[in-house]
Amino acid sequence: MTIKIALLGAGTVGSQVARLLKEENELLSARAGAPLELVGISVANLEAERDPWIDRDLLTTDSKALIEKADIVIELIGGVDLPRELILHALRSGASVVTGNKALLAEHGPEIYDLAKEQNVDVYYEAAVAGAVPVVYAVRESLAGDTVTEIQGILNGTTNYILDEMTTKGLAFDEVLKVAQDLGFAEADPTADVDGHDAAAKIAILASLAFHKRVHINDVQVEGIRSITANDIAAARAGGYVIKLVATARQEAGKIEVRVNPTLVPQSHPLASIGGSFNAIVIEAEAADRLMFYGRGAGGAPTASAVLSDVVAAAAKRVVGGRAPQEIVLGESEFVSADDSRSKYFIRTKVKDQVGVLADLAAKFAQSDVSISSVRQDERAEDGEAELTVTTHTARAADIAATIDSIQQAKTAQVVRVLRVGDE
Ligand code: HSE
Repeated sequence: MTIKIALLGAGTVGSQVARLLKEENELLSARAGAPLELVGISVANLEAERDPWIDRDLLTTDSKALIEKADIVIELIGGVDLPRELILHALRSGASVVTGNKALLAEHGPEIYDLAKEQNVDVYYEAAVAGAVPVVYAVRESLAGDTVTEIQGILNGTTNYILDEMTTKGLAFDEVLKVAQDLGFAEADPTADVDGHDAAAKIAILASLAFHKRVHINDVQVEGIRSITANDIAAARAGGYVIKLVATARQEAGKIEVRVNPTLVPQSHPLASIGGSFNAIVIEAEAADRLMFYGRGAGGAPTASAVLSDVVAAAAKRVVGGRAPQEIVLGESEFVSADDSRSKYFIRTKVKDQVGVLADLAAKFAQSDVSISSVRQDERAEDGEAELTVTTHTARAADIAATIDSIQQAKTAQVVRVLRVGDE
């Protein structure tokens, strides 16, 4: 018995998958329990330059004909519509599917999982979340004996790199983004990364797995990092925090909250030390307590590592029979509303440095039932102005919004930035 593999896409990740399937074939086949054979690679352009290990005889533009020859289809095309069509075709033709496509799963996951179940085949997607970091397996299988209460992750390497460079070098967002683009590191269109959509798709996938509720990307409350300034970072640092783009999923009293926000992470928290383009995920589970996963969330070879672990798992199932863990849905998803979301907040304001201003500002918080935990006055006061930074105890988002409104309407202070503060 030989397991026939079709590869859809030969970009950065696809090319590395082809290389490792060739170079490590003996080891991967031994783990799968049968020889693994790459039977074709579908690409958009047959003439494009390719890495030297890509066997040109395997290239085709006829994805559907290739799919029909395969036991396992690896989808690494990117985008949503074409991969969706091809994955559905693969499942209908009886192949198991391996994909790294987070946007597709966060949008159309249920349609894909339902068809896979109907067809008695499997869908694997370790590479869709945090690249090489085996967090999908951890949530779906390693923690199957536990109850996950919260997941917090740095799930986007590009934004972590940008924030890290801003923090360590004091640079502005636009400057760092441009350097990252010139290095070919950030995408020419950085929207999905910097506006938080990529992290949102990943946390939607993890939340669905952890809480057994369907979570669509539109259920995630998302805020990106474009507005973060070097001054925000300096003010956060002065208070003992690092700003990170944190994706959070938590479940409490049957309600789920899934969000992506630039967040002040206390310097003592494990996510605070994650530098460069690395990803990290902290999982809180009732019995296990805190777990942490760390590694490369992007890049050809690291992501190929995750893809190939899925290929081996899918192939082994073909050999010995049985199914991969299925999607488990335990009832309707009920979400915490944006107004009811609770967090500590960090509010930077500019005020006139004169008698009574602090008392007036504090009164606005009290009127909206928001409790202050600390106030800091910036020593760099200029022109009779001071920067007052207020940190609150945990408060409802709606109460914070009401506080900010009343401060601005009464011109008590100019509110410069409002950011969430994470727990220790
Ligand atoms: N662009 C993503 C990142 C990797 O920067 O982490 C793919 O999801």
